[in-house]
Amino acid sequence: MTHILAIDQGTTSSRAILFDAKLRIVAQAQEEFPQHFPHSGWVEHDPMDLWSTTAATARAAVERAGVRSDAIKAIGITNQRETVVLWDRKTGKPLHNAIVWQDRRTAELCAQLRDAGHEDMIRTRTGLLLDPYFSGTKLKWLLDHLKLHDRARAGELAFGTVDSWLIWNLTGGRVHATDATNAARTLLYNIAENRWDDDICALLDIPMSLLPEVKDCADDFGMTRPDLFGREIPILGVAGDQQAATVGQACFESGMMKSTYGTGCFALLNTGADLVPSQNRLLSTIAYRLDGKTTYALEGSIFIAGAVVQWLRDGLGLIRHAPESQPLAEQADAAQGVIMVPAFTGLGAPYWRPDCRGAIFGLTRNSGPAEFARAALESVGYQTRDLWEAMRADWPDAGDGVLRVDGGMAASDWSMQFLADILGAPVDRPEVTETTALGAAYLAGLRAGLYPQPQEFARSWALERRFDPQMDDKTRATKYARWQKAVKATIEAA
Ligand code: G3P
Repeated sequence: MTHILAIDQGTTSSRAILFDAKLRIVAQAQEEFPQHFPHSGWVEHDPMDLWSTTAATARAAVERAGVRSDAIKAIGITNQRETVVLWDRKTGKPLHNAIVWQDRRTAELCAQLRDAGHEDMIRTRTGLLLDPYFSGTKLKWLLDHLKLHDRARAGELAFGTVDSWLIWNLTGGRVHATDATNAARTLLYNIAENRWDDDICALLDIPMSLLPEVKDCADDFGMTRPDLFGREIPILGVAGDQQAATVGQACFESGMMKSTYGTGCFALLNTGADLVPSQNRLLSTIAYRLDGKTTYALEGSIFIAGAVVQWLRDGLGLIRHAPESQPLAEQADAAQGVIMVPAFTGLGAPYWRPDCRGAIFGLTRNSGPAEFARAALESVGYQTRDLWEAMRADWPDAGDGVLRVDGGMAASDWSMQFLADILGAPVDRPEVTETTALGAAYLAGLRAGLYPQPQEFARSWALERRFDPQMDDKTRATKYARWQKAVKATIEAA
């Protein structure tokens, strides 16, 4: 048994990647699924789509690899975080569509809780802020709107983030569990004490019988149903996608930082055993929990990164494929200095303004598709700089000042060079950019005894290319000041 199957259930697609004993990719499969937008600012997924595409891609990856299922030692799961699924324990059927992390429907409820003075207590215990991004208020919305409080109290229902939903289905309803990193995103989990928080659950009127058991990231999450792969396979690793990427990037030392460019962009700074409270509106969260030992992180979450390129493609029709954004941006007239603030679903860290919407500044009669593309790609760099500044202000001894990058947009040399330029710091791109799946596979393989301990795994991390800053200090300062002005104006317009 020499392979590990990593399941990566993301916001727009489900993927499965099979890794061999040396953590090399052997085969993979990917399937997109429909997004549902029932109202402005609402985003839903059908939980059955999440499960069926996961099962199909997992089986397809194994088939493509041409290995027998008895070559698979374990499964690791990583997933879009915060997204909420509520289901019936008896039938296993979901009671509603999943409410996705991007969904803003609980903005008003969050504001009410903030006005009532609950934010400090919630921040101290969960490391999070009162923003609709997190699961807790979404779960409350479901219980309230579907009038499910009695059934929830009677223990008939189960809540889970997407990992729990997949574990439930993979094990045929035998296991209702999650890992510490996913629990840490619910707004219901006390990350200092590593337990569900009764006071917050009481405040949101959420019965604790709904909640899954919380395990380490490399732990025993049960056996798959025998019919799925022809035999039972243990699930031995689970982590939210950004935390899995932190593991896959081997950011095991405190002070190491990674940034993943998927739909959004999520930067995590390992703060070791210290739970660092943010003074700059970042999140404190769990990076991973191994052998009962919690490693914490500061996280900056930006909601729109790769999604801005999708908008150039699907919304504006300026490009046909995402990689075309780079050559188009390269043709732009830099002197125009067009700035785009892609607050399509509000602004995340460090502003946390769910009410903001996107804006573009500095248009002239000469502005065209190339200037839009450049402004879109640059917006990702500027937003990362915002997080970078907040992290360094929160934790002045923040490491060696190198940012490790991964995710789809990290493939764009132009974007990564701009990122290094605007940060004024080196940006490292590893050889393996499938770090999310790699992290999930590593956690499962670690538990299975197939992969080495973290320090040895870290030595196998290989640099593909370093981007050193080339922009002069004055240009960097001028450009960033213009970005900050644009954000201020966007917030004022909300
Ligand atoms: O917090 C949301 C994040 O986990 C989603 O990641 O890669 O699916 O956009 P991604």
